[in-house]
Amino acid sequence: MSCLGWLNRRKGSGSGRRGSSASAPATTMTTMTTTTTTTTTTGSAVSTSRSDDSGAGRPTSKSTGSASSQRSISSLYEERGHGQLRAFEYDDLRAATNDFGRAQKLGEGGFGGVYKGFVRPLDPRADRIAVAVKRLNTRGLQGHKQWLAEVQFLGVLEHPNLVNLLGYCAVDGERGAQRLLVYEYMPNKSLEDHLFSRIHPALSWNRRLQIILGAAEGLAYLHEGLELQVIYRDFKASNVLLDKDFQAKLSDFGLAREGPTEGNTHVSTAAVGTHGYAAPEYIEKGHLTAKSDVWGFGVVLYEILTGRRSLDRNRPQGEQKLIEWVVQFPPDSRNFRMIMDPKLRGEYSSKAAREIAKLAQSCLLKNPKERPAMSEIVEVLRRAVQTEQAYVDKAPVAGNGKRVNVAPPSRR
Ligand SMILES: Nc1ncnc2c1ncn2[C@@H]1O[C@H](COP(=O)(O)OP(=O)(O)OP(=O)(O)O)[C@@H](O)[C@H]1O
Ligand SMILES: [Mg+2]
Repeated sequence: MSCLGWLNRRKGSGSGRRGSSASAPATTMTTMTTTTTTTTTTGSAVSTSRSDDSGAGRPTSKSTGSASSQRSISSLYEERGHGQLRAFEYDDLRAATNDFGRAQKLGEGGFGGVYKGFVRPLDPRADRIAVAVKRLNTRGLQGHKQWLAEVQFLGVLEHPNLVNLLGYCAVDGERGAQRLLVYEYMPNKSLEDHLFSRIHPALSWNRRLQIILGAAEGLAYLHEGLELQVIYRDFKASNVLLDKDFQAKLSDFGLAREGPTEGNTHVSTAAVGTHGYAAPEYIEKGHLTAKSDVWGFGVVLYEILTGRRSLDRNRPQGEQKLIEWVVQFPPDSRNFRMIMDPKLRGEYSSKAAREIAKLAQSCLLKNPKERPAMSEIVEVLRRAVQTEQAYVDKAPVAGNGKRVNVAPPSRR
């Protein structure tokens, strides 16, 4: 899925990379602190000056004239983050991935290829561990900024529903700049791979609910569980990775940024993200709030209901944009079932599915203030999981030990 490079993936205005040798993120962090966004206390942007759009920049409020005392991600990273991350040698990562060989490739995103490899833990007696190595295309300063944002955010954030960053590698050598990230390997790849690719067996409805609940808990932590708010900015099915037990882990913090400081309603910024998932007020006005993530969450809810991509140019006109297509099938209507993913073969609780569709609708309200908070979404999803469980418990068990449908799909 293409990123919103079209929406101002700006080239940085700085003079370029610092230094020419391997550098740890802590020493390059000063390049990240130049964002200034001014807003009135009523929240309407009166002027915006920005020298970059990097994830960890710090907005200041015009109404107070000074930055609040709340600590920034970069200061939190300085305090507790970088001690926990390992600085890998480039040659070790090259060897671990068979020179970034094609057979090792797990996928390719807008920022570069991702490769499977095995690395030795710092304790030489321990077994090698599987990792995913992301090698960023470092053309221009922007790639470096996103790499740095990812290191800073994931160096500080810690939650069972966020991917674990093990370390990084930065080399500015004769052969050019290299920026790499080393993550815990996720054996079940991403939600996108399972929802849309034919090579994986269909995800059951129950599993879809569990995954989306985990993703919601990850977002709720970012929005409401920290001393500062983090806006993720790139919520989509390919960024929901799945561990061996299909537990959801949010990945890709290269576009994440801090939420508005006290007294401000939003951050004004150039719009970046992915086609099909970005909120209208963000695309149109560059107004970024946590509710922009909620919009993206609503889109993914419809993806798990329908098994369709948010944008699919291979479908007939009128069905290409998922959220425009589903409007014809409201949750309380008789034809609601028409949107459900045929791969579910009718094996889901219709009640839970309608609850999810209503939730999706509320996330996709035009007015961001009317969209629910992530903690409210978590509550609704927990109830939907219970509804689904009650449905499964009621279904009779067939001779093969599998639950069978209580009624034919068309009558439920
Ligand atoms: N830690 C990981 N473990 C296993 N597979 C991974 C891991 N991280 C990424 N992948 C795989 O690599 C693919 C590409 O990931 P990447 O984040 O680079 O791009 P994307 O999310 O598909 O697109 P975009 O660049 O637009 O965000 C993912 O879809 C996933 O299949
Ligand atoms: Mg990704």
